[in-house]
Amino acid sequence: MSDVNSSPVSRRNFISTGAKLGAFLAAAPYVARGADGAAKADQLNVALIGCGEQGRILTNAALPIPGVRFKAVCDIWPYNLTRTERLLKKFGHEARPFEDYREMLSSVGDIDAVIIATPDFLHAEHTNAALRAGKHVYCEKLMSNTVEGARSMVVTARETKKLLQLGHQRRSNPRYQHARDRILNGDRLLGRVTNISGQWHRAVSDDYGYPANQAIVEAKLGKYGYANMHEFRNWRWFKRYAGGPMSDLGAHQIDMYNWMLGSNPSSCMASGGTDYYKTHEWFDNAIAIFEFPTKNGMVRASYQVLTTTSAGGGYHEYFMGDEGALKLSENPKYTKLYREARAPEWDQWVAKGIVASPLSGEGAPAAVKPWEKVGVKKLAGPSKSAGVDVRETAALSAWDIPVTLDKAIHQPHLENFVDAVRKGTPLSCPGESAFATAVTVLKINEAIAAQKTLRFKPEDFIA
Ligand SMILES: NC(=O)c1ccc[n+]([C@@H]2O[C@H](COP(=O)([O-])OP(=O)(O)OC[C@H]3O[C@@H](n4cnc5c(N)ncnc54)[C@H](O)[C@@H]3O)[C@@H](O)[C@H]2O)c1
Repeated sequence: MSDVNSSPVSRRNFISTGAKLGAFLAAAPYVARGADGAAKADQLNVALIGCGEQGRILTNAALPIPGVRFKAVCDIWPYNLTRTERLLKKFGHEARPFEDYREMLSSVGDIDAVIIATPDFLHAEHTNAALRAGKHVYCEKLMSNTVEGARSMVVTARETKKLLQLGHQRRSNPRYQHARDRILNGDRLLGRVTNISGQWHRAVSDDYGYPANQAIVEAKLGKYGYANMHEFRNWRWFKRYAGGPMSDLGAHQIDMYNWMLGSNPSSCMASGGTDYYKTHEWFDNAIAIFEFPTKNGMVRASYQVLTTTSAGGGYHEYFMGDEGALKLSENPKYTKLYREARAPEWDQWVAKGIVASPLSGEGAPAAVKPWEKVGVKKLAGPSKSAGVDVRETAALSAWDIPVTLDKAIHQPHLENFVDAVRKGTPLSCPGESAFATAVTVLKINEAIAAQKTLRFKPEDFIA
């Protein structure tokens, strides 16, 4: 069984959260026990706590990973528990079902790692219990709905010397890694990055329901901390269970701000409200503005999550520099790379496979007219052709990123976790750096409530 040792900080995994963060944690090479007691280097026995939507997605993403064996599943809702048990059986995994995670942890001896996909307010409780039971943990984002909950998870992982990976899966996505390591940093194709904007826009949606014959009785809901079936199903929107859309959707993208820049913000101001949905506690629309001091200068960043409109182009994170811009999204259709006309030619980066040739079709660069070159204004004259208005600069040319993800979006992040347990590969999202993201995200809700700009010290992001 592996314990955690410190490992050198790799460039890929580096996040600047101050001196205390130091080296990242990694597991020593892992050897699982076979049924006959023989070493089976390729087997990792896992359990799942939380068999809802994300539990199902993680199960499907983990099943193709060689050697992963589901040994137990836990959920308080029999409806979801049975569904997951059946899914696993279909793939030849005999996973014992449990309602209570404590019983699962104490009675199934051969679990090496636990995957947690319960509502956010339970992450600290479930993670800390699994770590204390000697298991490595992959826990979904947001790390916790409180800073103290998130901090306790980092501390427990440190004390137990077990691995803790948080579910910010973009960090293991090869397209995002290429964008960070080669485009934004590395060869610095964007030049000096000055701004980020990001968004997740979603149309109005109905609250979740449940089959009438599958309701959990009130006494049992109360035992597990839920007020009623409506809140149990729609926990995201209620303050005692979660952090609202900023934490639900924004967490993924704001994590990319910190991770891509290698920095944490120094301030946050924000606005939000329950302007539309009358039965929700959390803000349906929220907008935040951050200042990120980086070694290359200040980056001003905005982020908005809107749950009442799908207008404005889906979800993306947009990094803007004086020589180019990078629009990233988990959905490749929103991903683009742009070159400013004033930037050096990108032929050498195409030759090196860092960017792909200019796009054709939608988003392709318009043929650049001589007067569109920077500093050349179109002279007034008889020509009827449209030039660049004096208020505008030349159009950006659109390029492609030649790295794609050919599997389910959560699979590489689970693979990274499995490799960390088995081989000591550094985690893509260890507790320490996920803590910095959790603080960044939770501070937005605090700034909205306080109706003022919050200022941060580097140590605020260190657990
Ligand atoms: N990484 C991603 O892309 C991503 C996407 C969606 C959700 N998530 C995260 O995954 C987590 C789960 O979200 P979801 O959409 O699956 O929610 P969900 O409501 O569909 O599922 C939650 C499950 O947890 C179970 N549960 C509740 N309390 C429990 C308890 N005390 N013990 C055991 N099981 C319990 C519920 O019965 C339910 O089956 C959240 O933290 C969410 O933020 C991550």
